[in-house]
Amino acid sequence: MVEPRPPCPKAKVAVFISGTGTNMAALLYASRLSDAPFEIVLVASNKQEAAGLALARLEGIETFSHAHQGHSREDHDAAMEAAAKQAGAQFILLAGYMRILSEDFVRRWEGRILNIHPSLLPKYKGLDTFARAIEAGESYAGTSAHLVTQELDAGEVLAQVRVAIAPGDTPETLAARVKLAEHQLYPRAVADYVSRGSDPKHLLARLRELALALPETYERESHGSPGFRVGTEKTGKFFAHFHDGHHGSDRVAVLVKTGSMDELLHLVETQPESYLKPAYYGASGWIGVVLDRPDLDWDHVEDWLAQSWQRCAPARLTKLHDVAEMF
Ligand code: GRF
Repeated sequence: MVEPRPPCPKAKVAVFISGTGTNMAALLYASRLSDAPFEIVLVASNKQEAAGLALARLEGIETFSHAHQGHSREDHDAAMEAAAKQAGAQFILLAGYMRILSEDFVRRWEGRILNIHPSLLPKYKGLDTFARAIEAGESYAGTSAHLVTQELDAGEVLAQVRVAIAPGDTPETLAARVKLAEHQLYPRAVADYVSRGSDPKHLLARLRELALALPETYERESHGSPGFRVGTEKTGKFFAHFHDGHHGSDRVAVLVKTGSMDELLHLVETQPESYLKPAYYGASGWIGVVLDRPDLDWDHVEDWLAQSWQRCAPARLTKLHDVAEMF
Protein backbone atom coordinates (compact mmCIF):
# COMPACT_ATOMS: atom_id res chain seq x y z
CA MET A 1 0.00 0.00 0.00
CA VAL A 2 1.23 3.51 -0.78
CA GLU A 3 1.65 5.74 2.25
CA PRO A 4 0.12 9.23 2.06
CA ARG A 5 2.56 11.81 0.75
CA PRO A 6 4.47 13.43 3.65
CA PRO A 7 4.20 17.21 4.01
CA CYS A 8 6.67 18.91 1.69
CA PRO A 9 9.61 20.68 3.30
CA LYS A 10 9.10 24.44 3.27
CA ALA A 11 10.85 26.39 0.54
CA LYS A 12 13.60 28.58 1.98
CA VAL A 13 13.45 32.19 0.83
CA ALA A 14 15.66 35.27 1.28
CA VAL A 15 13.98 38.67 1.14
CA PHE A 16 15.92 41.67 -0.20
CA ILE A 17 14.74 45.10 0.97
CA SER A 18 15.92 48.70 0.93
CA GLY A 19 13.29 50.46 3.00
CA THR A 20 10.48 50.06 5.46
CA GLY A 21 9.95 46.44 4.56
CA THR A 22 6.20 46.25 5.08
CA ASN A 23 5.95 43.68 2.29
CA MET A 24 8.72 41.71 3.98
CA ALA A 25 6.68 41.86 7.20
CA ALA A 26 3.58 40.61 5.37
CA LEU A 27 5.64 37.73 3.98
CA LEU A 28 7.11 36.99 7.37
CA TYR A 29 3.78 36.77 9.20
CA ALA A 30 2.22 34.80 6.35
CA SER A 31 5.13 32.37 6.57
CA ARG A 32 4.16 31.70 10.17
CA LEU A 33 0.71 30.40 9.30
CA SER A 34 0.72 26.68 9.89
CA ASP A 35 0.20 25.68 6.26
CA ALA A 36 2.66 28.18 4.73
CA PRO A 37 4.83 26.49 2.10
CA PHE A 38 7.78 28.86 2.60
CA GLU A 39 9.98 30.16 5.39
CA ILE A 40 12.21 33.23 5.48
CA VAL A 41 15.81 32.29 6.16
CA LEU A 42 17.33 35.74 5.61
CA VAL A 43 16.37 39.39 5.25
CA ALA A 44 19.13 41.27 3.45
CA SER A 45 19.52 44.92 2.53
CA ASN A 46 21.82 47.34 0.76
CA LYS A 47 20.99 49.80 3.57
CA GLN A 48 22.17 49.11 7.07
CA GLU A 49 19.53 51.43 8.52
CA ALA A 50 16.57 49.88 6.63
CA ALA A 51 13.70 49.71 9.11
CA GLY A 52 12.77 46.26 7.86
CA LEU A 53 16.07 44.84 9.12
CA ALA A 54 15.26 45.85 12.70
CA LEU A 55 11.85 44.22 12.46
CA ALA A 56 13.34 41.02 11.07
CA ARG A 57 15.88 40.92 13.91
CA LEU A 58 13.13 41.48 16.45
CA GLU A 59 11.31 38.49 14.98
CA GLY A 60 14.42 36.33 15.22
CA ILE A 61 15.18 36.24 11.50
CA GLU A 62 18.78 36.30 10.35
CA THR A 63 19.73 39.58 8.68
CA PHE A 64 22.53 40.83 6.49
CA SER A 65 23.41 44.25 5.17
CA HIS A 66 26.01 45.42 2.72
CA ALA A 67 26.14 49.04 1.55
CA HIS A 68 26.36 49.33 -2.20
CA GLN A 69 28.40 52.57 -2.24
CA GLY A 70 31.98 52.01 -3.34
CA HIS A 71 31.31 48.59 -4.86
CA SER A 72 30.67 47.56 -8.42
CA ARG A 73 27.18 46.23 -9.11
CA GLU A 74 28.62 42.74 -9.61
CA ASP A 75 30.58 42.78 -6.34
CA HIS A 76 27.63 44.05 -4.37
CA ASP A 77 25.30 41.45 -5.87
CA ALA A 78 27.89 38.74 -5.16
CA ALA A 79 27.98 39.68 -1.47
CA MET A 80 24.17 39.62 -1.23
CA GLU A 81 24.05 36.33 -3.10
CA ALA A 82 26.71 34.72 -0.89
CA ALA A 83 24.67 35.64 2.20
CA ALA A 84 21.48 34.22 0.65
CA LYS A 85 23.21 30.98 -0.28
CA GLN A 86 24.89 30.70 3.10
CA ALA A 87 21.43 30.93 4.68
CA GLY A 88 20.23 28.12 2.40
CA ALA A 89 17.85 30.26 0.30
CA GLN A 90 16.26 28.53 -2.69
CA PHE A 91 14.35 31.63 -3.80
CA ILE A 92 14.99 35.37 -3.59
CA LEU A 93 12.08 37.74 -3.06
CA LEU A 94 12.61 41.40 -3.84
CA ALA A 95 10.42 43.60 -1.67
CA GLY A 96 11.18 47.26 -2.25
CA TYR A 97 14.81 46.46 -3.13
CA MET A 98 15.86 49.63 -4.91
CA ARG A 99 18.77 48.25 -6.89
CA ILE A 100 18.99 47.04 -10.45
CA LEU A 101 20.56 43.58 -10.35
CA SER A 102 23.47 42.56 -12.57
CA GLU A 103 22.76 40.38 -15.60
CA ASP A 104 24.73 37.40 -14.31
CA PHE A 105 23.02 37.45 -10.96
CA VAL A 106 19.57 37.44 -12.58
CA ARG A 107 20.63 34.66 -14.93
CA ARG A 108 21.86 32.51 -12.05
CA TRP A 109 18.56 32.90 -10.20
CA GLU A 110 16.29 32.75 -13.22
CA GLY A 111 12.92 31.30 -12.27
CA ARG A 112 13.78 31.63 -8.58
CA ILE A 113 13.62 35.40 -8.11
CA LEU A 114 10.37 37.33 -7.68
CA ASN A 115 9.43 40.98 -7.23
CA ILE A 116 6.40 43.01 -6.21
CA HIS A 117 5.76 46.08 -8.33
CA PRO A 118 3.17 48.80 -7.62
CA SER A 119 1.29 48.88 -10.93
CA LEU A 120 -0.81 46.64 -13.12
CA LEU A 121 2.05 45.45 -15.32
CA PRO A 122 2.76 45.78 -18.20
CA LYS A 123 1.53 49.30 -17.48
CA TYR A 124 3.82 51.69 -15.60
CA LYS A 125 7.10 49.85 -15.31
CA GLY A 126 9.85 51.64 -13.36
CA LEU A 127 9.42 54.46 -10.84
CA ASP A 128 6.65 56.96 -9.92
CA THR A 129 3.91 54.56 -10.89
CA PHE A 130 1.19 56.25 -8.80
CA ALA A 131 1.80 59.78 -10.08
CA ARG A 132 1.84 58.49 -13.65
CA ALA A 133 -1.38 56.50 -13.23
CA ILE A 134 -3.18 59.47 -11.64
CA GLU A 135 -1.82 61.84 -14.28
CA ALA A 136 -3.04 59.56 -17.06
CA GLY A 137 -6.57 59.64 -15.60
CA GLU A 138 -6.66 55.89 -14.89
CA SER A 139 -9.59 54.53 -12.89
CA TYR A 140 -7.40 51.80 -11.41
CA ALA A 141 -3.92 51.39 -10.11
CA GLY A 142 -2.76 48.12 -8.64
CA THR A 143 0.08 45.79 -7.90
CA SER A 144 1.75 42.84 -9.63
CA ALA A 145 3.85 39.96 -8.35
CA HIS A 146 6.18 38.89 -11.14
CA LEU A 147 9.28 36.90 -12.01
CA VAL A 148 12.45 38.92 -12.39
CA THR A 149 14.22 38.80 -15.75
CA GLN A 150 16.94 40.87 -17.39
CA GLU A 151 14.45 43.44 -18.60
CA LEU A 152 13.12 45.71 -15.83
CA ASP A 153 9.62 44.74 -14.58
CA ALA A 154 9.02 42.59 -17.65
CA GLY A 155 9.10 39.01 -16.29
CA GLU A 156 6.05 36.73 -16.22
CA VAL A 157 3.25 38.24 -14.11
CA LEU A 158 2.22 35.68 -11.49
CA ALA A 159 -0.73 37.55 -9.95
CA GLN A 160 -2.25 41.02 -9.73
CA VAL A 161 -4.71 42.98 -7.61
CA ARG A 162 -6.31 46.18 -8.83
CA VAL A 163 -6.96 49.16 -6.59
CA ALA A 164 -9.47 51.89 -7.48
CA ILE A 165 -8.16 55.43 -7.80
CA ALA A 166 -10.33 57.88 -5.83
CA PRO A 167 -11.03 61.42 -7.00
CA GLY A 168 -8.50 63.61 -5.24
CA ASP A 169 -6.03 60.76 -4.63
CA THR A 170 -2.42 61.86 -4.36
CA PRO A 171 0.46 59.50 -5.07
CA GLU A 172 0.81 59.12 -1.27
CA THR A 173 -2.84 58.29 -0.50
CA LEU A 174 -2.97 55.88 -3.41
CA ALA A 175 0.35 54.25 -2.41
CA ALA A 176 -1.02 53.56 1.06
CA ARG A 177 -4.01 51.62 -0.34
CA VAL A 178 -1.87 49.78 -2.89
CA LYS A 179 0.37 48.64 -0.03
CA LEU A 180 -2.65 47.02 1.65
CA ALA A 181 -3.29 45.13 -1.57
CA GLU A 182 0.37 44.17 -1.86
CA HIS A 183 0.36 42.70 1.62
CA GLN A 184 -2.42 40.34 0.54
CA LEU A 185 -1.02 39.60 -2.88
CA TYR A 186 2.67 38.92 -2.38
CA PRO A 187 2.48 36.18 0.27
CA ARG A 188 -0.21 34.36 -1.74
CA ALA A 189 1.70 34.66 -5.02
CA VAL A 190 4.89 33.41 -3.36
CA ALA A 191 3.08 30.49 -1.71
CA ASP A 192 1.54 29.46 -5.04
CA TYR A 193 4.80 29.83 -6.90
CA VAL A 194 7.03 27.86 -4.52
CA SER A 195 4.39 25.11 -4.38
CA ARG A 196 4.49 24.62 -8.15
CA GLY A 197 7.46 22.29 -7.79
CA SER A 198 5.45 19.77 -5.79
CA ASP A 199 2.12 20.23 -7.56
CA PRO A 200 1.56 17.19 -9.84
CA LYS A 201 -0.72 19.23 -12.13
CA HIS A 202 1.95 21.81 -12.77
CA LEU A 203 4.68 19.17 -13.16
CA LEU A 204 2.59 17.22 -15.67
CA ALA A 205 1.86 20.36 -17.71
CA ARG A 206 5.57 21.16 -17.95
CA LEU A 207 6.47 17.55 -18.77
CA ARG A 208 3.77 17.37 -21.43
CA GLU A 209 5.18 20.47 -23.14
CA LEU A 210 8.67 18.93 -23.29
CA ALA A 211 7.55 15.43 -24.30
CA LEU A 212 5.25 16.61 -27.07
CA ALA A 213 7.93 18.92 -28.46
CA LEU A 214 9.85 15.82 -29.60
CA PRO A 215 9.14 14.60 -33.16
CA GLU A 216 6.07 12.42 -33.85
CA THR A 217 4.88 12.15 -30.29
CA TYR A 218 1.42 11.96 -28.79
CA GLU A 219 -0.17 11.37 -25.43
CA ARG A 220 -1.96 8.20 -24.39
CA GLU A 221 -3.09 6.98 -21.01
CA SER A 222 -1.57 3.81 -19.66
CA HIS A 223 -2.88 2.13 -16.49
CA GLY A 224 -4.67 5.33 -15.54
CA SER A 225 -1.60 7.59 -15.89
CA PRO A 226 -0.65 9.94 -18.70
CA GLY A 227 2.00 8.51 -21.01
CA PHE A 228 3.83 9.75 -24.10
CA ARG A 229 4.45 7.72 -27.23
CA VAL A 230 6.55 8.09 -30.33
CA GLY A 231 5.62 6.74 -33.75
CA THR A 232 2.25 6.14 -35.31
CA GLU A 233 -1.01 5.73 -33.37
CA LYS A 234 -0.92 2.03 -34.16
CA THR A 235 2.67 0.98 -33.77
CA GLY A 236 3.98 3.78 -31.53
CA LYS A 237 5.85 2.99 -28.34
CA PHE A 238 5.79 4.65 -24.94
CA PHE A 239 8.96 6.63 -24.20
CA ALA A 240 7.73 8.33 -20.99
CA HIS A 241 5.15 7.67 -18.30
CA PHE A 242 3.99 10.24 -15.76
CA HIS A 243 4.00 8.75 -12.31
CA ASP A 244 2.17 10.39 -9.42
CA GLY A 245 2.45 8.39 -6.26
CA HIS A 246 1.77 5.01 -7.88
CA HIS A 247 4.09 2.08 -8.30
CA GLY A 248 5.19 1.83 -4.69
CA SER A 249 6.53 5.36 -4.20
CA ASP A 250 4.91 8.59 -3.05
CA ARG A 251 7.02 10.80 -5.32
CA VAL A 252 6.06 12.47 -8.57
CA ALA A 253 8.36 11.22 -11.32
CA VAL A 254 8.64 10.62 -15.02
CA LEU A 255 9.55 7.09 -16.05
CA VAL A 256 12.01 6.96 -18.92
CA LYS A 257 14.09 4.22 -20.53
CA THR A 258 17.68 3.82 -19.38
CA GLY A 259 20.37 2.17 -21.48
CA SER A 260 20.79 -0.78 -19.16
CA MET A 261 19.74 -2.27 -15.86
CA ASP A 262 23.25 -1.55 -14.51
CA GLU A 263 22.92 2.16 -15.29
CA LEU A 264 19.50 2.18 -13.62
CA LEU A 265 20.65 0.46 -10.43
CA HIS A 266 23.73 2.65 -10.20
CA LEU A 267 21.72 5.88 -10.48
CA VAL A 268 19.08 4.77 -7.97
CA GLU A 269 21.74 3.71 -5.50
CA THR A 270 24.01 6.75 -5.80
CA GLN A 271 21.35 9.47 -6.20
CA PRO A 272 18.27 8.27 -4.34
CA GLU A 273 16.86 11.82 -4.09
CA SER A 274 16.84 12.12 -7.90
CA TYR A 275 15.97 8.64 -9.13
CA LEU A 276 13.70 5.78 -8.16
CA LYS A 277 13.21 2.25 -9.36
CA PRO A 278 9.52 1.82 -10.13
CA ALA A 279 7.87 -1.29 -8.80
CA TYR A 280 6.18 -3.61 -11.34
CA TYR A 281 8.54 -2.69 -14.15
CA GLY A 282 10.80 -5.70 -13.57
CA ALA A 283 14.06 -5.64 -15.44
CA SER A 284 12.67 -3.49 -18.24
CA GLY A 285 15.08 -0.58 -17.72
CA TRP A 286 12.46 2.06 -16.83
CA ILE A 287 13.79 4.52 -14.27
CA GLY A 288 11.86 7.18 -12.39
CA VAL A 289 13.36 10.68 -12.62
CA VAL A 290 11.98 12.45 -9.55
CA LEU A 291 10.19 15.70 -10.41
CA ASP A 292 8.91 16.98 -7.07
CA ARG A 293 12.17 18.35 -5.73
CA PRO A 294 12.96 22.03 -5.14
CA ASP A 295 16.23 21.99 -7.11
CA LEU A 296 14.85 20.16 -10.14
CA ASP A 297 16.67 21.06 -13.33
CA TRP A 298 14.23 20.89 -16.27
CA ASP A 299 17.09 20.79 -18.79
CA HIS A 300 18.07 17.51 -17.20
CA VAL A 301 14.50 16.19 -17.59
CA GLU A 302 14.52 17.32 -21.21
CA ASP A 303 17.76 15.36 -21.80
CA TRP A 304 16.26 12.23 -20.28
CA LEU A 305 13.16 12.54 -22.44
CA ALA A 306 15.28 12.94 -25.56
CA GLN A 307 17.40 9.89 -24.68
CA SER A 308 14.33 7.80 -23.97
CA TRP A 309 12.70 9.01 -27.19
CA GLN A 310 15.85 7.98 -29.05
CA ARG A 311 15.73 4.50 -27.50
CA CYS A 312 12.06 3.93 -28.30
CA ALA A 313 11.56 5.68 -31.65
CA PRO A 314 11.48 3.69 -34.88
CA ALA A 315 14.71 3.70 -36.90
CA ARG A 316 13.27 5.88 -39.67
CA LEU A 317 12.91 8.70 -37.07
CA THR A 318 16.11 8.23 -35.12
CA LYS A 319 18.13 8.20 -38.34
CA LEU A 320 16.70 11.55 -39.33
CA HIS A 321 17.28 12.81 -35.84
CA ASP A 322 20.93 11.64 -35.85
CA VAL A 323 21.52 13.48 -39.10
CA ALA A 324 19.91 16.65 -37.74
CA GLU A 325 22.12 16.45 -34.63
CA MET A 326 25.22 16.54 -36.82
CA PHE A 327 24.45 20.10 -37.93
C1 GRF B 1 6.27 48.51 -2.58
O1 GRF B 1 5.28 49.43 -2.95
C2 GRF B 1 6.66 47.66 -3.74
O2 GRF B 1 5.67 47.51 -4.69
C3 GRF B 1 7.81 48.41 -4.35
O3 GRF B 1 8.48 48.97 -3.27
C4 GRF B 1 7.58 49.19 -2.20
C5 GRF B 1 8.19 48.58 -0.97
O4 GRF B 1 7.49 48.94 0.19
N1 GRF B 1 8.62 47.51 -5.15
P1 GRF B 1 7.83 48.26 1.58
O5 GRF B 1 9.28 48.54 1.90
O6 GRF B 1 7.58 46.81 1.43
O7 GRF B 1 6.90 48.89 2.54
